[in-house]
Amino acid sequence: MGEAITLRLLAIPCGLPRDLTELAEILARENPALLARLEYHGMDIDPELLAKAQDFTHNCVIPRTFHLGNALLRESFPSGPFHAIVSTGLNEFLDDSQIAEFFRNIYEALAPGGPSSRVAPSGSRAANSDASVRARHPLSRTGRT
Ligand SMILES: C[S@@+](CC[C@H](N)C(=O)[O-])C[C@H]1O[C@@H](n2cnc3c(N)ncnc32)[C@H](O)[C@@H]1O
Repeated sequence: MGEAITLRLLAIPCGLPRDLTELAEILARENPALLARLEYHGMDIDPELLAKAQDFTHNCVIPRTFHLGNALLRESFPSGPFHAIVSTGLNEFLDDSQIAEFFRNIYEALAPGGPSSRVAPSGSRAANSDASVRARHPLSRTGRT
């Protein structure tokens, strides 16, 4: 059997990443093997928030890196590809063309054939928001490859 690959997760915008600390707690209880495979990248346009995010997550066991970047600028994304990309709390501030640009950028940063499930622990704050993981292969069915 091959070695389990590291799963690279990107959150845009990460803000103060309460969902990361929550994810670590849930996986520690429910799926430690998956927890051990995760690598988290958080991107946000606000440098002060990124510094706070670093402090906020200092006890989190998931390896993590915070990146300064603009969701609307593909060149400011961290190097990919990523197996999953999650976004909460940004779309509602974007107009339609910005949302299209953001989703194009997400699509290009995703690893081909990545996971496609919606990822939000039931009953969590994330489950009640627009948290979702966008997969590259479902988008390819809409005409993009
Ligand atoms: C409502 S907060 C959501 C943060 C977090 N995802 C959450 O659910 O708690 C919105 C965040 O979007 C960030 N933001 C706004 N425009 C952005 C952009 N173009 N690219 C990256 N981050 C952006 C802000 O700095 C802020 O941290």
